[in-house]
Amino acid sequence: MSAPQWTIRAARATEIMRLGEIEREAGTRFAAVPALADVPGVLATPEALAAALAHGWLWVAAATADDAPIGFTYADPLDDALHVEELDVLPAWGRRGIGRALVETVVDAARAAGLAAVTLTTFRDVPWNAPHYVTLGFRVLAPSELGPGLVELVAAEERRGLPARLRVAMRRDVGPAV
Ligand SMILES: CC(C)(COP(=O)(O)OP(=O)(O)OC[C@H]1O[C@@H](n2cnc3c(N)ncnc32)[C@H](O)[C@@H]1OP(=O)(O)O)[C@@H](O)C(=O)NCCC(=O)NCCS
Repeated sequence: MSAPQWTIRAARATEIMRLGEIEREAGTRFAAVPALADVPGVLATPEALAAALAHGWLWVAAATADDAPIGFTYADPLDDALHVEELDVLPAWGRRGIGRALVETVVDAARAAGLAAVTLTTFRDVPWNAPHYVTLGFRVLAPSELGPGLVELVAAEERRGLPARLRVAMRRDVGPAV
């Protein structure tokens, strides 16, 4: 069996600017989705990444060969859940299970923190967004199921140009730590 080519670990402060570049490069995948042609891309700010790092909610996937980040995720507590704010993997490293492993890292952290669930918002019809998260155990929330934090987050997304009709909020309950 070949050695693993990547690993998940906590991010380092020195990597924050690189994570912005990874996010930009990962987002080039959306150019293949005609329905999103007019939807503005909004990048995570270095301040938000630094705050998540300080709280221990920022992880990278790093290449085993040189320990360089090739993907990342960060999360924040929101309502009764840990909310995935961002998740990105470099296209050259895509479809090897790295995104899935990053999500499972957030799930483990939510459970360890005693939070009930992991939530996220994403595009309803993009194959690597909602349909993919369904395979990871997430379900689409009805509007009446959104907590107040998620309601505000969805409204803020719409204000910055992400049409609600293209978006869904999703949740995976995590169960207690054993
Ligand atoms: C979402 C993202 C992080 C997934 O990273 P990844 O490492 O490729 O994820 P995984 O390998 O664990 O799983 C990818 C799954 O997405 C789906 N998928 C990805 N690209 C796809 C495509 N072009 N067509 C159809 N399905 C696709 C498949 O279900 C795939 O699983 P499979 O390869 O076993 O069929 C990555 O696609 C990305 O950075 N996208 C741009 C930013 C983004 O959408 N972020 C999430 C916002 S909520």
